[in-house]
Amino acid sequence: MKLLKKQLKPFVNKLSRIIDERDIITDQNTIGPHLIDWVGNFHGNSPLMITPRNKEQISQIAKLCSNENIAIVPQGGNTGSVAAGIPNGEIILSLKKMNKIIEINPNDYTITVQSGCILSQIQEAAKNASRFFPLSIGSEGSCTIGGNISTNAGGISVLKYGNMRDLVLGIEVVLADGRILNSLKRLRKDNTGYAIKHIFMGAEGTLGIITAASLRLFPKIENKVTGFASLKDLDSAIKLLEILKEFSGDLLTSYELIPAIGLHIATEYGDNITEPLKNREQWNVIIEFSDTKNNNNAHDILQESLQHSITQGIVLDAVIANSISQTNNIWKIRKAIVEHQPKLGGEIKHDVSVPISSVPEFIQTTIEKLREYIPNIRPVPYGHIGDGNIHFNVCPPIDYPEQLFKDKTSDIREIVYSNVNSLGGSFAAEHGVGIIKKKQMLKYKDKVELEIMKDIKALLDPKNIINPGKIL
Ligand code: MLT
Ligand code: ZN
Repeated sequence: MKLLKKQLKPFVNKLSRIIDERDIITDQNTIGPHLIDWVGNFHGNSPLMITPRNKEQISQIAKLCSNENIAIVPQGGNTGSVAAGIPNGEIILSLKKMNKIIEINPNDYTITVQSGCILSQIQEAAKNASRFFPLSIGSEGSCTIGGNISTNAGGISVLKYGNMRDLVLGIEVVLADGRILNSLKRLRKDNTGYAIKHIFMGAEGTLGIITAASLRLFPKIENKVTGFASLKDLDSAIKLLEILKEFSGDLLTSYELIPAIGLHIATEYGDNITEPLKNREQWNVIIEFSDTKNNNNAHDILQESLQHSITQGIVLDAVIANSISQTNNIWKIRKAIVEHQPKLGGEIKHDVSVPISSVPEFIQTTIEKLREYIPNIRPVPYGHIGDGNIHFNVCPPIDYPEQLFKDKTSDIREIVYSNVNSLGGSFAAEHGVGIIKKKQMLKYKDKVELEIMKDIKALLDPKNIINPGKIL
């Protein structure tokens, strides 16, 4: 399965009949950055990286690897959080040279792209055609659309536009035996039996190598309005969400929870970030409205909803950004939490979801249970409350010994995940399973679902050569 040292030279010779020698890399300095995951926890190894330029080459490579029993790890921008793209002796197949926009159809509101396109490249191409591609995540300047599809990426606009799988109309995939599945259709309606394309989305590269996709576009956004509100309590976050939806129809695109400790992290460690409101309250939200019309509509509706919520006692105080710098300041708070949270003495990350209405109960009871386990522990629950996905990260008490905290990782994970499970939630809402959540797959995934997943893997990849050891 792994490519052994003695196999390297003869295998490279065979590869050089398929791809250009420039696209066969054995230099460890070049391969190095592809061996470490985004979070920096996993260090893999691989003797070889290849960078093919078209699907026909990938098909021949898959056939060769299948015949020789050599495993492949497909890799996009290597920005995943669960080490799904990190090899353990397998060869890396990087899609980075497959980065062409194949076609854009403004009238159909579609764009068809190769899978190595950077997300921001697609956003830009849509914008240039007066259209909008809504997926937006922190790594958008370096993640690839193939990786976004393989991980069913989420981000800050899921409550309006859905996850990545809701944005994919068609897909092209090279299978383990080299067959090319061509389902690059640009259709909104296609009821011709099983939706095979969906099994490759969120499969983290374990079922085939995605080479291209057709994606949905939307009308261009002309006006964004950002607000920041402090809340009476956590239940008020759900009440305010209801009011915003009721008042604005579909203008609401982002609704992100910011706890007081998040404001502390942002103002203490972030780059020149100011507190948006006079008093720091325990629970706050960032609100974003997006409108296709460039007028005061979005601003006025947001103002009206916030005023109504203040009258109802749901919102304590609120501000609507009236300049680009105020907008940036609010979003910098959100980014700074992700970036600087480890400075609180370490962090244990959880990316979970529960039904939206259960978020307050989930957060409150998990905090209580964690505090029973370690008094003064510092949970930092933040993020996509508008779609029920909370990044429930946990930091140690002040001056707590770092190693002692690390040693408690599995107990802490268990407290969080068992509470998620009891509320009908998911232990992997957005970032996937990869290597790091395989244990939870066995414990919490429905047994029948797990059996079907194994059957599908065995059917499509009987020799287990595509990204072995991930998810299952
Ligand atoms: C985010 O929503 O900012 C990310 O999913 C958080 C993370 O990468 O941990
Ligand atoms: Zn997120």
